[in-house]
Amino acid sequence: MNKVIIIGASSGIGRELALLYAANNWLVGITGRRKELLQSLQQDFPENIMTECFDVTGDENIESIRNLTQQLGGLDLLIYNSGYCEPSEISEWEIDKNTILTNVTGFTEIVNFTFNYFVVEGKGHIAATSSLASIRGNSFAPAYSASKAYMSNYMEGLYIKAAKLKLPICLTDIQPGFVKTKMAKGNGQFWVAPVDKAAQQIYTGIKNKKRRIYITKRWWIIAKLLYCLPITLYKKIG
Ligand SMILES: NC(=O)c1ccc[n+]([C@@H]2O[C@H](COP(=O)([O-])OP(=O)(O)OC[C@H]3O[C@@H](n4cnc5c(N)ncnc54)[C@H](OP(=O)(O)O)[C@@H]3O)[C@@H](O)[C@H]2O)c1
Repeated sequence: MNKVIIIGASSGIGRELALLYAANNWLVGITGRRKELLQSLQQDFPENIMTECFDVTGDENIESIRNLTQQLGGLDLLIYNSGYCEPSEISEWEIDKNTILTNVTGFTEIVNFTFNYFVVEGKGHIAATSSLASIRGNSFAPAYSASKAYMSNYMEGLYIKAAKLKLPICLTDIQPGFVKTKMAKGNGQFWVAPVDKAAQQIYTGIKNKKRRIYITKRWWIIAKLLYCLPITLYKKIG
């Protein structure tokens, strides 16, 4: 049986992915801070789902991943999906700090550890949910867009590192536009994807070992536009 760990699977996209992997007969390790949500998910697939409750901003990341890997009896795929986003009219350090601890520090510690684990194993796959917001700076949540840009850039770096090491370690950068979860905040949302459709497209993209996937697929058009838009125009919307 294939084995996956999903970091941040208690709600939203991660929860839906956990259900999808379990339904496709994977052994699934799920994590998050809300124990009762993890346990209720486990009850749906008691044979396939194992849980580990921890906060990615704390000191237990490596120990928890080790425990879960042991429970699963190995690891083929890790998906880093935990994320923090809090828009604010003014610049607030507490928001920026939480954003960095979750989306940068926790992400780097867990992905770095897993990459090295896969180097020893000689193979593996890491996916991470960044965001379309990674492409340009965003005035409503500057640390969020910057942290997601960091994630994307780090994943590309590891992609090249794996190639240089000549190891079959796959890296997938998942870039959603808007997905209907509590994370999707603010006005002016469009092309909002239902969470089950988003999870299905992520599942297929990972299965096909894609380097980058836009969720939903048509968001690649917005991605290309954002790359090209001059700052004089972008500052009206960013
Ligand atoms: N929804 C969108 O429109 C959208 C767009 C672009 C990117 N994304 C990205 O997609 C990912 C999933 O978000 P979602 O939309 O599914 O929202 P969500 O339902 O709020 O899910 C967020 C997940 O992250 C976990 N998490 C947050 N902080 C954590 C922490 N400190 N320690 C451990 N786990 C933590 C949460 O678990 P606990 O609260 O139980 O800890 C939860 O399982 C995020 O990385 C987000 O940035 C979402």
